[in-house]
Amino acid sequence: MKIRYFDHAATTPVKEEVLEEMLPFLEEKCGNPSSLYTLGRESKKAIEEARKRVAALINCEPNEVYFTGGGSESDNMAIKGIAYANMNKGRHIITSKIEHPAVLHTCQKLEKRGFKVTYLNVDRDGIVDLEELRRAIRNDTILISIMTVNNEIGTIEPIYEISRIAKMYNITFHTDSVQACRSYSY
Ligand SMILES: Cc1ncc(COP(=O)(O)O)c(C=O)c1O
Repeated sequence: MKIRYFDHAATTPVKEEVLEEMLPFLEEKCGNPSSLYTLGRESKKAIEEARKRVAALINCEPNEVYFTGGGSESDNMAIKGIAYANMNKGRHIITSKIEHPAVLHTCQKLEKRGFKVTYLNVDRDGIVDLEELRRAIRNDTILISIMTVNNEIGTIEPIYEISRIAKMYNITFHTDSVQACRSYSY
């Protein structure tokens, strides 16, 4: 029986060229990058090279790139980090109803810690309404978190426009880009 796999948005085979680049580090070049010996220094060099390549891809500085264990950890770190660092400025967060649970559960946790969260609706195509976003902004809004691409229906959110609005109001913008990689200059 031939199996057809339709769940590539959830998990997908690693690309041949990625596997090729990674294999040496999963096999013989397995040195601890925090160590001083040659094998470790080689790993460290490869990590820093990867950091530069990721930075070039998303148009930022290498020292602004943090590698994590995965999407949920990144969402948690970004949202909680921004929320707790700015809680003396305000405690209001705006997100959408169709974010991944990694974002929604983090926001729910923050609500239990006294933050207020507005969950924006989406239209029939899954797109957030920019007017509704503008109306939701308050004096105490410290974060807007809207995903780049939805993991269930593939909707691409207008994150460039959202980032412009956030910038206009001096609010930090976070986007969960687990399902997409795009370069923007703001
Ligand atoms: C949009 C989105 N955000 C977050 C995650 C969570 O990523 P991870 O499974 O690496 O924790 C996923 C996983 O598919 C996702 O699609």
